[in-house]
Amino acid sequence: MVYKKKIKTIAVVTPGGDAPGMNTAIRAVVRTAIFNGMKVYGIEKGWQGLIEGKIRDLELQSVGGIINRGGTMLHTHRCPEFRQKTVRNKAYEKLRAYNLDGMVVIGGDGSLGASNVIIKEIDFPIINIPASIDNDIYGTDYSIGFDTAVNTAVEAIDKIRDTATSHERVFVIEVMGRNNGFIALDVGLVAGAEAIIIPEVPFNIDAISQKLRYGQQRGKSSFIVVLAEGAGHAHDIAKQLQKRTNLDVRVSIIGHIQRGGSPSALSREAACKLGARAVMLLKEGKKGLMVGLISDKVIETPIEEVLRRKKPLDMAAYKLANMLAS
Ligand code: F6P
Repeated sequence: MVYKKKIKTIAVVTPGGDAPGMNTAIRAVVRTAIFNGMKVYGIEKGWQGLIEGKIRDLELQSVGGIINRGGTMLHTHRCPEFRQKTVRNKAYEKLRAYNLDGMVVIGGDGSLGASNVIIKEIDFPIINIPASIDNDIYGTDYSIGFDTAVNTAVEAIDKIRDTATSHERVFVIEVMGRNNGFIALDVGLVAGAEAIIIPEVPFNIDAISQKLRYGQQRGKSSFIVVLAEGAGHAHDIAKQLQKRTNLDVRVSIIGHIQRGGSPSALSREAACKLGARAVMLLKEGKKGLMVGLISDKVIETPIEEVLRRKKPLDMAAYKLANMLAS
């Protein structure tokens, strides 16, 4: 898909949930664009800001000192109203008013869906960059922010393990991920969780209880059960485990701490590479693509394909985690 018009002015926006590394990606977009002779605008507060015309110039220095900062300097906002055509029309007026030739959208699956609608309705050049702690986006091995969120959760679990061991307790620890278990699986594997409960695999509370009891007989003094938020309620699972094992069970919900903090090296590396590539694709006249990292290479996938296909969970990693924590 090659778009003929010369791309002189672009905008960058970060709609939906923030993810650590978004700022690094904004910096890469702005600096690549300016070094390639383009003017760049930043749209504040996601789609809401586009509707309201909250749009400002971004210069080289505007993105100084943000490479290591979590969150998004452009701010964000959940914007369900964007599903209405009349509301989107207001956004389209702003794209015209600012003479925009293209846009880089940094976000998760909601941002991809909205980008696809915009492209279909007004044939506007958009390149997407996957940024979401959930890592549920097809077309990239990992989305910006995922690695940071996993590291944050693992650090928290390592601390919980200390108190769990001292008190000989079970902890049911809930991590984010919406309807998917990507965070829970990675976290469970590297934190050595005795059980991982994810939406993709039906769980059997009796089997988990038996595993804990067996561990206890072998002298284990603490147990970590990592639960993906989309797979069940931590307090219910804790009650059921308590009843079946007689162990002392506690719950810890890690929550939004997973969305914050300084981006890890991996999240930053992805952000630098994907941010720069997204701008170059616009310059080359491409549109309707998402850039991603597959086996460490920057790959482009049509947004429609990204939306159509489901990212598979690494079942081998799930089996490995279960075996290693037996
Ligand atoms: O998509 C990122 C995410 O953090 C999910 O893991 C979580 O379910 C959701 O966003 C929470 O959204 P909010 O911050 O709007 O409550």
